[in-house]
Amino acid sequence: MTSTALSTRPAVHFAPKRNWMNDPNGLIHHGGRYHLYFQHNPYDGDWGHMSWGHASSSDLLEWTEHPIALLHDENEAVFSGSIVFDAQNSSKLGTTERPPLIALYTSARQGSQAQALASSTDGGETWVKRGIVLDRGTTDFRDPKVFRYLDHWILIAVEALDRQVHLFRSDDLQNWSPLSVFGPAGAPQGIWECPDLFPIDGRWVLVLSMNPGNPAGGSGMQYFIGDFDGTTFTATSWDWLDRGRDFYAAVTVSDAPAPVLIGWMSNWDYAHAIPSSPWRGSATLPRRLELRGERLVQRPAVNLAKAPHYSAGPLALSEVAVPLPEDAHGRAARIKLVARPGRGVVELVLRASPDGSVGTTVRLVTGEVSLDRRRSGNIGFSETFASVSKAPLAPGETVEIDVWIDVSSVEVFAEAGAVTITEQIFPADENTTVLLRSTEDAVVQSVEVTVIER
Ligand code: FRU
Repeated sequence: MTSTALSTRPAVHFAPKRNWMNDPNGLIHHGGRYHLYFQHNPYDGDWGHMSWGHASSSDLLEWTEHPIALLHDENEAVFSGSIVFDAQNSSKLGTTERPPLIALYTSARQGSQAQALASSTDGGETWVKRGIVLDRGTTDFRDPKVFRYLDHWILIAVEALDRQVHLFRSDDLQNWSPLSVFGPAGAPQGIWECPDLFPIDGRWVLVLSMNPGNPAGGSGMQYFIGDFDGTTFTATSWDWLDRGRDFYAAVTVSDAPAPVLIGWMSNWDYAHAIPSSPWRGSATLPRRLELRGERLVQRPAVNLAKAPHYSAGPLALSEVAVPLPEDAHGRAARIKLVARPGRGVVELVLRASPDGSVGTTVRLVTGEVSLDRRRSGNIGFSETFASVSKAPLAPGETVEIDVWIDVSSVEVFAEAGAVTITEQIFPADENTTVLLRSTEDAVVQSVEVTVIER
């Protein structure tokens, strides 16, 4: 096989053309397009001079990057926040004929963080900063997410160090009065960041980022399912949102036809060191959300609308690695696998060397799925990068997983989306093979590969 020169640039995930990216911000479906703003350093590949970059897409797969939307200035860095469409011009910052988009973001200054407002009357392309509208006089009050509730607006933001989410209400997006406080709750570690509260299938879900405290290591996310009476959110259960290392700062898209969540595919443990250039950082796959009982279910929100390029099974492989089709090698692809690990092991080795000695391994044993990137290629840029992330699976003999591989990432969806593992990988150019292997006791019932043409 001839080796093709791989760039680490993702094929189906958004990454800015150049320079640093962290959290998705201001996610909104507006004017027939999905808008993704993001924490961005306009000048180089590390965190700093925080501003909002901007991209948009009609299908959540193909992204067009636009000019910087909100630039830092001598007074403030523009930290994370959200955007709403003020359809009734309640803010009076647009007109009835041309209602504005309103962004609420954290104005981060020396020793203070408060929520500021900006408005746009050209569909989100250009913005006018209008100053601070909500200030508690504290240092770590940030990441406002705003939503419409009955006839008014609700804003939630964290007091990061207190591990609390504060809720406020307003009629005009400018004057805010406190409603209630949620937390500390759930996992006891870390600081809290980037909260989002939204209704889904008759309940309310609060998603939250925390750093550190992820059981897989470093920063990660948890979610609470509960009820919201317009004033107070009460949780009835919580769980981890993703069992991998690289899923952070995810929030939902405002005004989307169905709930869609997008995160930052990285971890504060090593985000500054990942080997990609001239950009650093990317978004996760957008995920369509549903509730299944007390569990949040996530599935890729992108539509491939294609028949698989390859399917096979049942296979009794017993220690033999089968190379999956050549056209899946080194490409973005989706692999669906149905297996019965029994007392054995089934492994899908991604971005592998032909002999399988290098590669990222998705490993299935009864009751557990794991992602092992200890031999995934370039792991030496940070001491904390090499890892095995494990997720427990509900009891059952048959396991079905849906694995999305991009040039520098793997996203595993198990239990029809109730369990996910999201991680970055940095394989070498020659590591492009996809292999499937299992021990004698295990059976691969079917495998299906769909190459994502880009
Ligand atoms: C989360 C975060 C936010 C903050 C932003 C700054 O990753 O720390 O809390 O607003 O990044 O870039």
